[in-house]
Amino acid sequence: MAVMTVLTTQNPINIVQITDTHLYGKSAGTLLKMNTRETLGHVLNLVIEDESDIDLVLATGDITQDASDEAYNNFLEAISNLDAPFRWIPGNHDNAAVMDRIAEGTDAGEKVVQINNWNIILLDTSILGQVHGKLSATELEFLESSLQAADIDASIDHCLVCLHHNPVPGSAGWMKDIGLQNGPKFFEVVKKFEKVRCVLYGHIHQELDFIHQDVRCLCSPSTCIQFKPKVMNFSLDKVNPGYRTLKLFADGKVESKVVRVPGSTFEADYNSPGY
Ligand SMILES: [Fe+2]
Repeated sequence: MAVMTVLTTQNPINIVQITDTHLYGKSAGTLLKMNTRETLGHVLNLVIEDESDIDLVLATGDITQDASDEAYNNFLEAISNLDAPFRWIPGNHDNAAVMDRIAEGTDAGEKVVQINNWNIILLDTSILGQVHGKLSATELEFLESSLQAADIDASIDHCLVCLHHNPVPGSAGWMKDIGLQNGPKFFEVVKKFEKVRCVLYGHIHQELDFIHQDVRCLCSPSTCIQFKPKVMNFSLDKVNPGYRTLKLFADGKVESKVVRVPGSTFEADYNSPGY
């Protein structure tokens, strides 16, 4: 598998993850009464204030809520304010074909990036029109061949694997059927290789940092609404939107933190039974 982009930069590598932006084509578009374009603006302003020398921005799906060209263009316009390279992958609210068309001629849809001695692998888990996700046979084969290539490449010591859907079931009862359907298969492939240090995802709109099958798993808050963990029925969490930083060290260490927009809680329909 040919790596398309190889970057050499500082140690540690500075990554910013932005996830579940849920943008609409119309600027007035709201998700459970939250204007997703405005909240993304707050999050990106915070990134600009707090982060410097960003090597790569990872946008891990649900880029848009309505999968319109306008919404993707709104995202591109907003993310350009960070003045850093970015890669995106689709989520359940996206349309992968529309994203591919819009990203044509750019690096946005590139699936492997090598930065120093790290490989960043980006997977598509979306199934058009479905909330849950699945790695297709092709995508599983891509994951396996990418990890195999990394394994025998002396210039790569560590891998970060990114996807939209949670490969480990969420802790809320209503989340039972919305995650990655073939999560166990995903870990079966990941576990065959020794260079995977971290798995990064979004989809369940909350902050998580835990070990699953000896692999560190990080889930991150949306830039709009947040889902409450450990509840049976759908419930919004009254915590503010945010982003995640990852510092990838040459020795394989990963330092990561979530940064949320400060101040009073954003308005949303906190009593909604679903979204
Ligand atoms: Fe989402």
